[in-house]
Amino acid sequence: MNDHLVIILFVSVLVALTNIRPAYSQIALIKWHVYVKNEMSQYGPILHVHCKSKDNDLGLQNLTAGAEFEWHFKLNFTGSTLFWCYWRPEKGNIYADFKVFWKDRELFEKCNYKNCIWIARDTGLYLRNVPKDYDEFWYHWTPGSMDTYLHP
Ligand SMILES: *[C@@H]1O[C@H](CO)[C@@H](O)[C@H](O)[C@H]1NC(C)=O
Ligand SMILES: *[C@@H]1O[C@H](CO)[C@@H](O)[C@H](O)[C@H]1NC(C)=O
Repeated sequence: MNDHLVIILFVSVLVALTNIRPAYSQIALIKWHVYVKNEMSQYGPILHVHCKSKDNDLGLQNLTAGAEFEWHFKLNFTGSTLFWCYWRPEKGNIYADFKVFWKDRELFEKCNYKNCIWIARDTGLYLRNVPKDYDEFWYHWTPGSMDTYLHP
C-alpha cells in the first residue's frame, strides 16, 4: 500500500466513526436531562417557568437571576415523550410557550444525547448546541400574557 492510500483509508475511518449515531435501542437507555436557565436582565430578575408533560406537571418555578431548573427522565415508546414550558419574566408583559423536549434526531444531536439546555434572555429563547458549543436562537418573546396557565 502506498502512503496516499493509507491516508485515504485513515480519513475514511475517521469520517465513518464521527458519523456513528446511537441506535434507538441505545437511545432508550439514555437518561435525558432538561435544563431551563434564567439569563434575563432587563425583564427580570425573576423568571417564572412552568413545565409539563401529558402526565407530569413540574410545577411553577420562580427562577432568580442566573438560576436554573432541571429534570430528567427516560424516553417512553408507548406514548411519545413530550415536555413543554410556559415562560414569563417578571417585567415586560411578554411570554413564551413552546415544547422543550420531543423525540427528534436533530434535537437529540443538539443535546448531545444527554443534556437539553434552554436559556431565556431578554433577546429571546435559546437552545444550547452542546457539541458545537454555542447557543442557537429559537424563539422570540410573545407580547402579552397567559396568566391562566401561570395560575391554573
Ligand atoms: C412519558 O415519559 C415522560 C417522561 O418520563 C412522562 O412524563 C410521561 O408521563 C410518560 N407518558 C406515558 C404515556 O407514559
Ligand atoms: C412564584 O411566583 C408566583 C407568581 O408571582 C407566586 O404566586 C408564587 O407564590 C411564587 N412561588 C414561590 C414558591 O415563591
